[in-house]
Amino acid sequence: MHILFFSSPDSNLFSAKADLEGNTLAHIEAVLDKLVDIVYEHRPQLIFIGGFALSDELLSKLQIIYDAFPNVEIALCVIDPEPDFLMRAIRTGVREVIGSSTQASIKETVARVSVRAKNNKKLDANEARIIGFMSAKGGDGSTCIAANIASALAKHKETRILVIDFSLPFGDIEMFLTSQKQTNDLADFSDEIDRLDASLMDSMVEHVSDNLHLIASPLSVDRLIHIKPTHIDRLIEVSSKSYDYIIIDIGAGIDPISIHALAKLHQLIVVATMTVPSLKRATQVLRYWQELGLDENRLSIAVNRFQSKADIKISDIEKAMGRRVVHYLPQDNVGVQESLLKGIPLIDLKPNSEFTKSIFNWASEWSGKVQGKSLWQRLKNR
Ligand SMILES: Nc1ncnc2c1ncn2[C@@H]1O[C@H](COP(=O)(O)OP(=O)(O)O)[C@@H](O)[C@H]1O
Ligand SMILES: [Mg+2]
Repeated sequence: MHILFFSSPDSNLFSAKADLEGNTLAHIEAVLDKLVDIVYEHRPQLIFIGGFALSDELLSKLQIIYDAFPNVEIALCVIDPEPDFLMRAIRTGVREVIGSSTQASIKETVARVSVRAKNNKKLDANEARIIGFMSAKGGDGSTCIAANIASALAKHKETRILVIDFSLPFGDIEMFLTSQKQTNDLADFSDEIDRLDASLMDSMVEHVSDNLHLIASPLSVDRLIHIKPTHIDRLIEVSSKSYDYIIIDIGAGIDPISIHALAKLHQLIVVATMTVPSLKRATQVLRYWQELGLDENRLSIAVNRFQSKADIKISDIEKAMGRRVVHYLPQDNVGVQESLLKGIPLIDLKPNSEFTKSIFNWASEWSGKVQGKSLWQRLKNR
């Protein structure tokens, strides 16, 4: 296991190295602001963090890390934390809290995490990262955000992205991505499912661009009967090997197809707005996710049409959902309408808008930083 020890400058917190044979270790002392960058650089499986004030800033950094690396384990080294802070840390995904950085407690923690890592199904590095976007309530914006995130990830030409529209019966993600007409839809893939392989898939998907491909939802309701939940397994199995990201628009409803897709996700983003009905539905989705026995660390919440004065506050959403909101997308009515009319992603139509900046910041958290610059910074410099 690759283990990162991260502590505040001059804290000497993890200097007493435990005997951790069989693991690779990195020990870094730096300010909290550096944490996320360092995690991206080192890609540890376990991170010991200590010597920092128990602040909202610390929690938000943890949330960013868990959003980007759902399988990472974080052990917080804190002395006598307030129960409230502890609860909030646990809600972000922290499963190990140690009161001292002695060799014994580090060793015990590593042993526990190793056992968990063996029990958990490991993500294959060669397989696609599968991310679902679900609107808490119809119209909250999962389609708009999924399409723009996919377009932002595709700016990196070596990254291959497949967008699949499971928001049945009336998916419309193609409208946010392209003005091209679709040749095949999800029902066509179902018809070919028995002989589907990588080359057939490549010939059937819509090539929005060289590295951004799309499987749209069926145009007519009568074609829905072609799609069976088991087809989802095969579709994801084949596409996982050909793409880096599979972005799935799940829509707002939960039906047999979307339930099947949920279990396949590495991460579910629930897109909500700052309204009471949306929040109520978001908490129902969370409960449903828990009932399905799915890992809570894999569910995160994004707020669309963010505004400082709304029916409810971000803190209400965070309290009800038991997790921090780390992604906010501002409202851009004019931009979105123009994007739909022209069939051009909003990030391309309005490259300097606040909406576009938020999308690129988000995408760069997933795709990582290259040569010290975020994806967004690199694109701005082009
Ligand atoms: N941040 C935003 N600002 C302005 N309009 C938005 C925003 N997000 C979505 N919309 C618009 O709201 C409508 C619903 O969005 P959509 O993504 O289709 O929602 P859903 O997929 O949840 O039904 C669409 O017309 C879309 O263009
Ligand atoms: Mg939609």
